Amino acid sequence: MSVVPNLGNGKITVPDLLQRKLKGTGFLSKPEKITCLTAYDYPTARLLDEAGVDVILVGDSLSMVVLGHESTLPVTLEDMLHHTRAVRRGVRRALVVSDMPFGSYHTDTSESLRNAVRFVKEAGAEAVKVEGGERRLELIARLTEAEIPVMGHVGLTPQSVNALGGYRVQGKTRDAAEHLVRDARAVEAAGAFAVVLEAVPRELAAQITRELHIPTIGIGAGPDCDGQILVLHDILGLTFQPVPKFARQYANVGRIISDAVRGYCEDVRTGTFPSDGESYHATRMKEEEKETPVNTDGDW
Ligand code: KIV
Repeated sequence: MSVVPNLGNGKITVPDLLQRKLKGTGFLSKPEKITCLTAYDYPTARLLDEAGVDVILVGDSLSMVVLGHESTLPVTLEDMLHHTRAVRRGVRRALVVSDMPFGSYHTDTSESLRNAVRFVKEAGAEAVKVEGGERRLELIARLTEAEIPVMGHVGLTPQSVNALGGYRVQGKTRDAAEHLVRDARAVEAAGAFAVVLEAVPRELAAQITRELHIPTIGIGAGPDCDGQILVLHDILGLTFQPVPKFARQYANVGRIISDAVRGYCEDVRTGTFPSDGESYHATRMKEEEKETPVNTDGDW
């Protein structure tokens, strides 16, 4: 498939991730953790890929962090496909996974399968992610049978916000913990290649990680998972509300953008931008410069 260049040459694949987990189960072996981040557009996807992230998730967090909605519920299948295409163009090495949005896999299985196929066929995703444990058994099995690798997602599943009554840590009581373990096992039994554990006590996440043969990817689930995922905008300081305690902020890109834009506005208003050096000069232009289109790369 043309969107998966350099196969066998550093490209991260689903079997690679399973292999990492397998290697880590040996006595004294310390597997390499799986690094995952979300991305929603070409430039950030490209930067993440070139920085060596293993898995890039086109998360339905797109709904909030890029499209400005209050939850993940309003984002549409077409939105997710559109952003997956952009991400796909920026990624060469990482595995590209797309979130199936709310409503796109909640009716009948055939319709869900058709929607999942669109992510692979039209947008270039290499896997899809669906939320839910035991109740997704049949769906995950059906997608896997159709050669679509599936990443599960249990614990706090943001698409269930109305049913859960808010965003809360899951699996805190004994019953809830047992239920969560069953969910994770069901996702594995159905054929998923990995499972996201969101907002789960670290001890429970560690237990699930020990039990499963597929990698666990934690978000607010402590350090013992096989990998970690965060929302890119949270780590870059590009959100407009407080971030959850598990999201470490590595940069304040929001401030960098605001400062840059204020500087630009100031320069335009005071007439210091553009300068003479940033202007073209009709009289001084050499013959060959006149013929060079202004939008080519190079020193124009
Ligand atoms: O949509 C999302 O960003 C997610 C998380 C697991 C990061 O599902």
